[in-house]
Amino acid sequence: MMGAERTIVITGASDGIGAAAARQLAGAGVRLVLVGRSPQKTKAVAEETGAEYHLADFTRLDEVRLLAEAIGSSCERIDVLANNAGGMFSGPTATPDGFEKTFQVNHLAPFLLTHLLLGTLLESRASVVNTSSIGARLFGGIDLEDLEDWRSFTPSKAYGDAKLANILFAKGLHDRFHERGLSSVAFHPGTVATNFASDTDGYFRRIYHGALKRFLISPERGGRRLRYFIEGAPGEAWASGEYRVSPRRRGRTHRQAYDPVVVREHWRRSEEMLGIRW
Ligand SMILES: NC(=O)c1ccc[n+]([C@@H]2O[C@H](COP(=O)([O-])OP(=O)(O)OC[C@H]3O[C@@H](n4cnc5c(N)ncnc54)[C@H](OP(=O)(O)O)[C@@H]3O)[C@@H](O)[C@H]2O)c1
Repeated sequence: MMGAERTIVITGASDGIGAAAARQLAGAGVRLVLVGRSPQKTKAVAEETGAEYHLADFTRLDEVRLLAEAIGSSCERIDVLANNAGGMFSGPTATPDGFEKTFQVNHLAPFLLTHLLLGTLLESRASVVNTSSIGARLFGGIDLEDLEDWRSFTPSKAYGDAKLANILFAKGLHDRFHERGLSSVAFHPGTVATNFASDTDGYFRRIYHGALKRFLISPERGGRRLRYFIEGAPGEAWASGEYRVSPRRRGRTHRQAYDPVVVREHWRRSEEMLGIRW
């Protein structure tokens, strides 16, 4: 890639880990395309980093479709798609599309966005980097008959299942498309002092927004971890299809992530919900 400009698309780039990674990546040789929800925050990070930006609220799939159109028509190539937008939310809450919000924002929206950009991603032999979480192992446990957790919703369970879905998605992408040049990975960014969990009450809000906040790692460190996967070559810095608990450590995650039937079924049901076929 000597001399060629790499195009890097980062969602959730208006705050926290995504914004920190964008600041670190800004500079020569990179075309940065940032995606956020808040117009003010996204514009501010884009101006600071000299990046292009797009807005989309992932609780609205029509906005995800428009986002894909806008990125698809302005980017001839995409070297990295970092599916980083997400979070833990109170609920259960139905989005305008009728899906549970935690599931849609963290999983269904990036699943759709990646699907809609697939042609460009394949032509570019791109990497897809999913920001997952150790929450997948700690709180996850997917019921294939209730992917959205309508029956068993707590903010942490829905979050754990959605972050497990990010890992299943990275594995599914690898299984289907790695032979055609696409690589994918899911990783845990650390426990990072960001705006995370501001839309919940109780335990997690107290950790992330109370006195314990000082024990968390900085957004800059979290951003460096995302940057590692964005900059690192698949097959060298990380292996396609894997989950990493930190840049250099293959950690174990939830056992369901190693079950090919769960990987396939979760994918099939996500497709069905969206009415798409990869
Ligand atoms: N912080 C942690 O300890 C931790 C640990 C493990 C994994 N993670 C994961 O890291 C990723 C980034 O989180 P963060 O810690 O940086 O939190 P953050 O500071 O709250 O940033 C979240 C980002 O996601 C975007 N977002 C939230 N809801 C959205 C929606 N409905 N539509 C579109 N974008 C939306 C936000 O956009 P706006 O700001 O524009 O609303 C923001 O850019 C998430 O996937 C999270 O699950 C975080």
